[in-house]
Amino acid sequence: MSRPVRVLFVCLGNICRSPVAEGVFRQKVRDAGLDDFIEIDSAGTGAWHVGNPPDRRMTATAKHHGVDLLWQRARQFVDTDLADFDHILPMDKSNLHDILYLDEGNDFGQRVTLFRQWDPEPGTYDVPDPYYGGDAGFEEVYSIVDRTTDALLKGLAAHYDLEPD
Ligand code: 4NP
Repeated sequence: MSRPVRVLFVCLGNICRSPVAEGVFRQKVRDAGLDDFIEIDSAGTGAWHVGNPPDRRMTATAKHHGVDLLWQRARQFVDTDLADFDHILPMDKSNLHDILYLDEGNDFGQRVTLFRQWDPEPGTYDVPDPYYGGDAGFEEVYSIVDRTTDALLKGLAAHYDLEPD
């Protein structure tokens, strides 16, 4: 393969759901020995938290599960991300809508699919936004992200025929 597969997780603020998806997926990719083959980033459709670290409730939940999110900084999704990433994975349908709105030429729709389309136990297509809720919401996000990134990694490895060094 000529270059790494590029994966972008997207939510609204880039301080809760997409940072934990990025952090958990990075760890799984590293553990699988595939970090030379998969590049990972996250972004928010909104600009409110640009430059900030993830929400401390999300950071604490991830740390409890052995995943460090503290180094991450929020950035806003920009239209050039549509061309730059192979797989753009919005956390909910509203994020999906906001991303597709920026695809003015209707060129990149195939790259944009809901994150939970990979969830083996979907229930709903949305990762619930935990921002205005209690701690249980952050645990729920973590467990959705954990099982969904497992499936995502298996799916990408099979699709691109990726094998560790
Ligand atoms: P996220 O959560 O989209 O998972 O990062 C949110 C963070 C901040 C806000 C909304 C959702 N906010 O309205 O500021």
